[in-house]
Amino acid sequence: MNAPTSPASPRPDFAQVPDLAPFRARRERLLARMQAAGGGVAVLPTAPERIRNRDAHYLYRHDSYFYYLTAFREPEAVVVLVAGEQPQQILFCREKNEEREIWDGYRYGPDAACEVFGFDEAWTIGDLEKRLPDYLADQPLVWASLGYDSAWDATVLDALNSVRGKARSGIVPPHSIRDLRAELDEMRLVKDAAELATMRHAAQISAAAHCRAMRATRPGRFEYEIEAELLHAFRSAGSQAPAYTSIVAGGANACVLHYIDNDHLLRDGDLLLIDAGCELDGYASDITRTFPVNGRFSTAQREVYETVLAAQHAAREATRPGAHWNAPHEAAVKVLAQGMIDLGLLQGSLDGVIESNAYSRFYMHRTGHWLGMDVHDAGEYKLGGEWRPLAEGMVLTIEPGCYIRPADDVPEHLWNIGIRIEDDAVVTADGCELITADAPKTVADIEALMREARDG
Ligand code: GLY
Ligand code: MN
Ligand code: MN
Repeated sequence: MNAPTSPASPRPDFAQVPDLAPFRARRERLLARMQAAGGGVAVLPTAPERIRNRDAHYLYRHDSYFYYLTAFREPEAVVVLVAGEQPQQILFCREKNEEREIWDGYRYGPDAACEVFGFDEAWTIGDLEKRLPDYLADQPLVWASLGYDSAWDATVLDALNSVRGKARSGIVPPHSIRDLRAELDEMRLVKDAAELATMRHAAQISAAAHCRAMRATRPGRFEYEIEAELLHAFRSAGSQAPAYTSIVAGGANACVLHYIDNDHLLRDGDLLLIDAGCELDGYASDITRTFPVNGRFSTAQREVYETVLAAQHAAREATRPGAHWNAPHEAAVKVLAQGMIDLGLLQGSLDGVIESNAYSRFYMHRTGHWLGMDVHDAGEYKLGGEWRPLAEGMVLTIEPGCYIRPADDVPEHLWNIGIRIEDDAVVTADGCELITADAPKTVADIEALMREARDG
């Protein structure tokens, strides 16, 4: 271990280090799962820094899997977990560097990181190549995530080959590599209490941001001005960044599912669809609201809106422990397809429209996804070829929509109406809880909020 050195820049306020007990508990749980599956050594790097242009970097974001186990947010770090009778938890991280700390800020260095984040040992990242083969020696398995980063693949395979090269001195190399992500995906799918607390907080910040956006919206403003209101609400509440690029889509732009230009004028009579959520302490939120730019839904807009809202309600009712993953989607599709028939968008019977997939012309995405550290979070949707059952502690979005592009066979009064309503749901013991419910979504509540902002 490195000799302790005095910090070149002040150590960050330790209040910013989260409660480490859940992170330690996850490492213990992973070690127990590894042990049950044959033992071995897990090796996991955090994300690399990325160049934006010339020597400027993108805002650094740790790797979600790595953070899940460590709470450590610095780049250039690797965690090694050794299962067995005498388990070991080891961190490799950047060494102290006075000059770099003057330019870039505090780094823990191995000594402080080991103590603060609760590892058995910590070493400088420069030692990884030299030390990794020793951890792999005489171990039955390596648990790693390969195929995502060729430099990391080479690090793991080089270490493995280095152990193989010592076979004649009696050292036995690991005989197989297991997918570490697959193991962690299952753990990440069911959130612990600390994760749920952070996700609730993130959801509240995002809901408040959507309220702020509704209050700020008027004909004549630009989409990017409303995006700025969202960013203001996120950052001023302590969120580190948006969880994904915000969609602020007025009028016809709402029918472009991944619209992120956010540079158009907002016009009287149009709807505005906002899909935006903050990331807080590594956890995402994901909310969509659609509302009238002028504060009043037209008759046609209201008719489509009420259909989507009813579909969301049906999907929410279908979200409970034991229900299979696709049940909320099937419930939403049923309501949406009937609505499309009633609105004159589709002809035929409900069963026929669902069976032929005709509804997908106006509803072409699924009704949700897992949510957690990543906006489209880890976890399989099927087990053994069947949709997996929902269980308490899983978190998913419920986000039906309807997107009507102009066409000869589409009633003209519905052209360019694009609506999505998205909430974040925690599966509870007997149903689900919408943690984003503070963002208004009934026609009456949205119109009241906007009227109050305009008049007050
Ligand atoms: N905001 C990304 C999504 O709704 O899936
Ligand atoms: Mn979503
Ligand atoms: Mn979304």
